[in-house]
Amino acid sequence: MTPDPRLIVALDLPSVEAAAAMVDRIGPAASFYKIGLELAFAGGLDLARRLVDKGHQVFLDFKLHDIPNTVTRATAQIANLGATFLTVHAYPQTMAAALAGRGSGGLQILGVSVLTSADDQDLAAAGYAEGAAALVARRAGQARDAGLQGLVLSPLELARVRSLVGPELRLVTPGIRPHGSQADDQKRTLAPGEAIAAGADYLVVGRPITGHADPRAAAAAIAAAMAHPA
Ligand code: C5P
Repeated sequence: MTPDPRLIVALDLPSVEAAAAMVDRIGPAASFYKIGLELAFAGGLDLARRLVDKGHQVFLDFKLHDIPNTVTRATAQIANLGATFLTVHAYPQTMAAALAGRGSGGLQILGVSVLTSADDQDLAAAGYAEGAAALVARRAGQARDAGLQGLVLSPLELARVRSLVGPELRLVTPGIRPHGSQADDQKRTLAPGEAIAAGADYLVVGRPITGHADPRAAAAAIAAAMAHPA
């Protein structure tokens, strides 16, 4: 079994032990893992190092946003872990600061345009004059202009954002649900083959794999669907 390097499994699990056991259960069906803030604060940075040592790729979903000096220095520390992807909020200052800190070790910076939990009303309440669609487009353009390596976005935004940023930026999308699986709390989803056909370079998948009775079989089935985009 050869893993599809475009499939990223979200390790949204409460402990390092549970996450490491999940990686073992998935075995050769995946090679790229996402660690978020919950696991990071429960010892997940050590797990990230261990995964990198084992030859896996790691996506650190930390969504950094602070003054430039702090973002640059934090990014430089994160680069030492050997991760492949790090997320930052797609503010021009923050993106430039992260790029300044990533060094030459291969860490790629991904911008989070607008959180999918925020709708137009939430943005207005936070003082934004633009709605979510316009803000996603603005920030995608700013990410491209900053020289960012990629963007995280909803699968339903793929086609529009791809047309705005061109072929260079890596587009990474959560909100993936295989046909016939439950949506959980995801509201705007695409199936794996559909997301690849819509222009995704990487898919982030959590519960359809980690909540499955056979995580290895679930990951393998998603990889098979990715191989036949439709
Ligand atoms: O379990 P599920 O497949 O829904 O997991 C999706 C992963 O992608 C989670 O780690 C979630 O935090 C992340 N994510 C998301 N929507 C975004 C950004 C990140 O679902 N807009």
